[in-house]
Amino acid sequence: MGKVTVITSGKGGTGKSTVTAGLGTALVRRGNRVLLIDCDAGMRGIDLMLGVSGELVFDIADIINGNCPPASAIYPCKTVPELYILPAPQNVRDEISPSVMKQLTEVLKGYYDHILIDCPAGIGIGFETAAAPADRAVLVTNAEPLSVRGCDKVRRKLQYCSIEDISLVINRFNERKFRKMNVYADLDAVIDEAGARLLGVIPEDSAAANASQKGLPIEGRIKAAGAFDRIAARLDGENCPLNLKQSII
Ligand SMILES: Nc1ncnc2c1ncn2[C@@H]1O[C@H](COP(=O)(O)OP(=O)(O)OP(=O)(O)O)[C@@H](O)[C@H]1O
Ligand SMILES: [Mg+2]
Repeated sequence: MGKVTVITSGKGGTGKSTVTAGLGTALVRRGNRVLLIDCDAGMRGIDLMLGVSGELVFDIADIINGNCPPASAIYPCKTVPELYILPAPQNVRDEISPSVMKQLTEVLKGYYDHILIDCPAGIGIGFETAAAPADRAVLVTNAEPLSVRGCDKVRRKLQYCSIEDISLVINRFNERKFRKMNVYADLDAVIDEAGARLLGVIPEDSAAANASQKGLPIEGRIKAAGAFDRIAARLDGENCPLNLKQSII
């Protein structure tokens, strides 16, 4: 049975979708079969980031409405074998309910090692739908106050949904900018305020952003790919030590 992880954050634009796509790709590199479920109804993006948007006919709402079997709405990523994408509905009116999402994921779990769910920003119904089937959550934050504050709210909401396994990814980290901002003494202060255990740190990396904009996977010599590999190893339960004093986390 696959492990279901929701990728979430309070504030928008922290990099949830980038992390969902990057982590999915890294989990495949480790030999997993991975499904990415885009839960951002009306604002889907995972299909664009992994270069399948031109092929989409059906989406998650079509499965629920009986327009197609689940397999017809699940698209293989051509550049990453064993990575699959279930797109969100294009129309926000087609948002599905948390209980239906849970039922659907229960079935899909049997076919994958990991299911990653890309959550929309905020803590509305879209958040509840994305979180409903999750065994665990990854909070994505940037190392800045507005973003970190959002983590606390989301963490409480996740706990309210009975999700206790909550970890933190600090995304778009740039040490020089972080020091210049001079708000936090160090990354420990960010982690303390976010209130979740650290899973990893992803550097600010324009090559990763460029790849996503072009529909290409974050892999190869792209710097962020190494960070995704270490996070994927930890998600797979491997002991991959964190050292906040070193630049490679
Ligand atoms: N590590 C990174 N380095 C550089 N740019 C990044 C990184 N991660 C994300 N970005 C960029 O930040 C922007 C927001 O990323 P993304 O769409 O993944 O965020 P999101 O949290 O899913 O947003 P939303 O809340 O709107 O769904 C994008 O332009 C993306 O390319
Ligand atoms: Mg997104």
